Amino acid sequence: MCGIIGYTGTRSVLPILLEGLSTLEYRGYDSAGVAVHQNGLQTVKSKGRLALLEEKLQARAHLEAATCGIGHTRWATHGEPSDQNSHPHGTDRLALVHNGIIENYLEIAAFLVEQGYTFSSQTDTESAAKLLDYHYAKSGDPQEAIFKTLAMLRGSYALGICFADYPERIYAVRKDNPLIVAKTPTGALIASDVPAVLAHTNTYWRPEEGVLAVLEKDAVRFFKSSGEEVSQKQECVDWNVAQAQKGGFPHFMLKEIHEEPTAISQTASAYMKDGLPHFNLELLDTDRLKEFRAIHIVACGTAMHAGLIGKSVIEQLCRVPVSVEIASEFRYRDPILHEQDLVILLSQSGETADTLAALRHAKANGVHTLAIVNVIGSTVAREADSVLYTLAGPEIAVASTKAYSVQCTLLYLLALRLGLVNGKLSAQTVREICEKLRVQVPAAVEEVLKSCDKVRAAAEKVVDAEHMFYIGRGVDCALCTEASLKLKEISYIHSEAYAAGELKHGTISLVVDGTPVVALSTVSSVAEKMLSGIREVASRGAKILCVTTKQISEQYDLPADIHLVLPEIDELLAPFPAICVMQLLAYYVSALKGLDVDKPRNLAKSVTVE
Ligand code: M6R
Repeated sequence: MCGIIGYTGTRSVLPILLEGLSTLEYRGYDSAGVAVHQNGLQTVKSKGRLALLEEKLQARAHLEAATCGIGHTRWATHGEPSDQNSHPHGTDRLALVHNGIIENYLEIAAFLVEQGYTFSSQTDTESAAKLLDYHYAKSGDPQEAIFKTLAMLRGSYALGICFADYPERIYAVRKDNPLIVAKTPTGALIASDVPAVLAHTNTYWRPEEGVLAVLEKDAVRFFKSSGEEVSQKQECVDWNVAQAQKGGFPHFMLKEIHEEPTAISQTASAYMKDGLPHFNLELLDTDRLKEFRAIHIVACGTAMHAGLIGKSVIEQLCRVPVSVEIASEFRYRDPILHEQDLVILLSQSGETADTLAALRHAKANGVHTLAIVNVIGSTVAREADSVLYTLAGPEIAVASTKAYSVQCTLLYLLALRLGLVNGKLSAQTVREICEKLRVQVPAAVEEVLKSCDKVRAAAEKVVDAEHMFYIGRGVDCALCTEASLKLKEISYIHSEAYAAGELKHGTISLVVDGTPVVALSTVSSVAEKMLSGIREVASRGAKILCVTTKQISEQYDLPADIHLVLPEIDELLAPFPAICVMQLLAYYVSALKGLDVDKPRNLAKSVTVE
């Protein structure tokens, strides 16, 4: 999604904007632009990568003296990627950058055309910028003009605004879209995401919805629409710049996969006390937990796939029914919810528009909501009734990896807690599994990472494929959905995940000589059935890549062209090393193809629009 950065202070603004935008590149973008105060507002925009914007800026050397401005990376929604559609938008009087979608932009544009305005882009944002100009031209008061504009906008936004008449000031406001404000020793910043300010500070404000931030080099102030000045709570992250950078790895994705052992052990340890799961939430640590009749896990993409693992483990250990729902469906299909249900929202960013809407829908239906989120203070985290944070640290690569593993970690702990309180599991059993989750799982994932070369060699054998299949049974089937998503999103190889027993009901017609089929087999109770499924595709000429536990590899003679054996681990916990193998496989295929691993085409890290 789009990225916003802005700075006012004593330093030259352009390097700060460019550095900030480069930090935000991971969110996904197709054009970029800046507007700085230098004898009026100077706007420079370019389609494509930031390097192209930098080239244009080199030809405008006099802008180096500017000390106040805003910048934007745009991920096209309304109008193709082009110089004209890039942000900032505005007039001689003001420049504005926007994340989100203005839903009634055509209505606004029609109104403005009647007032004599013309438009040069196809964007929704230009309507907001020109509406602001209309109100500002009337009142000459930025604050009043902004609130009058907001009152007419429908949709979601994070806005950064500069007025030509106020060359040292930035205004910022948000609704249903992330935006932070920070103070540094030399000035003040706005950004759409924490990594963009980490080089300057690790404390920031996340203004409440509708609260206007006014930034000057010496002060940051917040105002309500009534004009009343209000204070906002300052937040702090313990990430540092190094954590938000590649640390010697060629790509963020590989770095983040390598961080999984630490992320899993940190997350597991944080939610254990005396060897048992402990959440410090009244709801999850008391008898109330056993009153839940059913659980709905609602999320998007990879987070939704982690939910499938959660369903498998919660149902297996606790016999409580769990449904896993795609957030964009849940919010509109009027799901059957009961006051004794629990809705769990899973999200790395905590800003995914559909997940947020699903959360609001569940709350409006009087159902208790629990957010499992990685970004502290994000909107989903703040709006849910209860929140548990995964401790993955910043995840920069668009392809989610460590966030998935820690989401699974927390869902395992939740399952164990639930099993304990509803009497399905003994304290002894729970203690043993907890210990394995804390120690054995990170060690097993570490071992997978030590044998990266084997996965890379496997990737070399499938790199030229046009189509691939992933098959598994039980929890492996759930895991395959994520393995398949990982491959297609970064390698552009079409792939599908299938329940091994379902393939023969249609899809097997697509398996021809040489089609790679990744067969995941970690569930011993269905290993023999898996073997039959593998034989079915092998006999149609498929190239078989088996990923199995040690025990299954020893027990069965698998018709594999390539065989990767997982480190020894309790079968219940095998999904952790297994997904690590699958993530590495996708990573190496993409890297071998020379693709932009961390920023795959058409994708954004944080999907803050519907
Ligand atoms: O931030 P979230 O976890 O809510 O994001 C949900 C999905 O957009 C996300 O998991 C997406 O599928 C991954 N980036 C894919 O790797």
